[in-house]
This record gives sequence, C-alpha cells and structure tokens, in this order.
Amino acid sequence: MASYNIIHLVVCLTFLSLLQLPMPSHCADPGPLQDFCVADLSSPLLVNGFPCRKPETVTSNDFFFDGLQKRGRVFNPLNVNLTEVDVFAFPALNTLGVSMNRVEFLPEGENPPHTHPRASELSLVTEGKLFVGWVSTQYILYWKVLTAGEVFVIPPGLVHFQRNVGEGNAVFYAFFNSQNPGISKIAPTLFYSTPLIPDQVLTTAFNVNQTIIDLIKSGASVLLP
Ligand SMILES: *[C@@H]1O[C@H](CO)[C@@H](O)[C@H](O)[C@H]1NC(C)=O
Ligand SMILES: *[C@@H]1O[C@H](CO)[C@@H](O)[C@H](O)[C@H]1NC(C)=O
Repeated sequence: MASYNIIHLVVCLTFLSLLQLPMPSHCADPGPLQDFCVADLSSPLLVNGFPCRKPETVTSNDFFFDGLQKRGRVFNPLNVNLTEVDVFAFPALNTLGVSMNRVEFLPEGENPPHTHPRASELSLVTEGKLFVGWVSTQYILYWKVLTAGEVFVIPPGLVHFQRNVGEGNAVFYAFFNSQNPGISKIAPTLFYSTPLIPDQVLTTAFNVNQTIIDLIKSGASVLLP
C-alpha cells in the first residue's frame, strides 16, 4: 500500500511538473536552422514555409523591401488599402518568423472582423484616429481609440477589427510573429465559402429565418477577400 502511494505521488508530481514546463507555442513559427533561407517561391516542393534559394545567389537586395514607399491610392469598398509585407511579398522573411502590414483608411474605413490564425499582432498607429478592438474567448471586447505613436496588441487567433473614427485618413502598421500570419475574415468565411455553408446551418446558428440570411448574403458580397 505504502509503495503504491509513493508511485502514485511520483506520477502526480511528474504530471504536475510537466504542466509547468513552458508549453511549445502552437502560434509562432518554428526557429530557423540557418542564418537565412530566402524563399524560392517557385519551387514545386511543399514544406512548412518555402525551400531556400542557394545562399550564393542571395545579395543585400534580397533583404531589402521598398514596397511601402508608395502610399495606397486604391481603396476597397470598405475604404481600406492593405499592403502586406509577408513572405510572398518579401521572400527573405522565410523562416524568420516575422512580417508586417500597412493599412490605410479613408474616413469611416473599416478592416472588418477577422483573425490571424498563426500570429499575435502589434498595431502601431502613425496617423489619424483608429478604433481597435478584439474579443476574447470569454466574449469580452477589449478596445482602445489610438492616435499617432500608440500601440495595441492583439493575441493570436482572436477576432479583431479596426475602424477609422477620425475626420481624416488613418494609417497603422501591424507587426506579426509569423512570416505568413494568414487572415480569416468572418463574413466571407460564413457567407461566401466554396461550396457555401448550407443555409439551415446559418439560420440555426444565428436563430433567424432564410430571408435574413439572404439579406446578409446579398449585402456581404463587397466583403469578398
Ligand atoms: C493599395 O494601393 C496601392 C497603390 O495605389 C495598390 O497598388 C494596391 O493594389 C492597393 N491595395 C489594395 C488591397 O487595394
Ligand atoms: C423573417 O424574420 C423577420 C425578422 O424577425 C420577419 O420580419 C420576417 O417576417 C420573417 N420572414 C419570414 C418569411 O418568415
């Protein structure tokens, strides 16, 4: 009996100490195994990230990106212009675990509710007045109205949005701990998947009738990615 108790105690302590180990994050890119691995975006190989170009073909220019110099002039129907600086736009980010975006808003422009499944987000406002909010898994909205120089952080995978609440344009830069944070927009996910989610699922999910679902679908076409 005594030895059973000791074994039981050891098993429990081992389990408890395992719980206290730092858990490997499931929401950050794995660390690099070499100094750099500039992506070969044309490789037919499918790996977690992209295969590296031969290091001897890489120059300083590969670590340089000037695509943010030009201000956005083309705005989507929600009055937003998004410039992504991820591994697709800037292949040197491959394996480095970082990326960024610049988002510009006309007055009342909105980046509608979405998630980044693979990254936390640091948002730095550089111009204007921006309402930034995210909702926890306890359905609490955390929010702030930011002006130039102010920062808000958005935890990985949670639903968030930004809206220009100032008189003029607003600009913010988002920084991610992933080369490819991914974006999953809520409205197109629910109403414009291929194939479509069956209407019965949506009428039940929102507790409304078919007319209301049709109405939302007809209005939401501008939200297509
Ligand atoms: C943002 O503006 C730039 C420059 O006008 C344009 O090339 C780009 O396509 C726009 N991005 C979006 C998502 O509309
Ligand atoms: C659907 O629901 C709306 C809101 O409750 C209601 O006004 C409308 O009459 C309903 N339509 C049908 C066809 O039941």
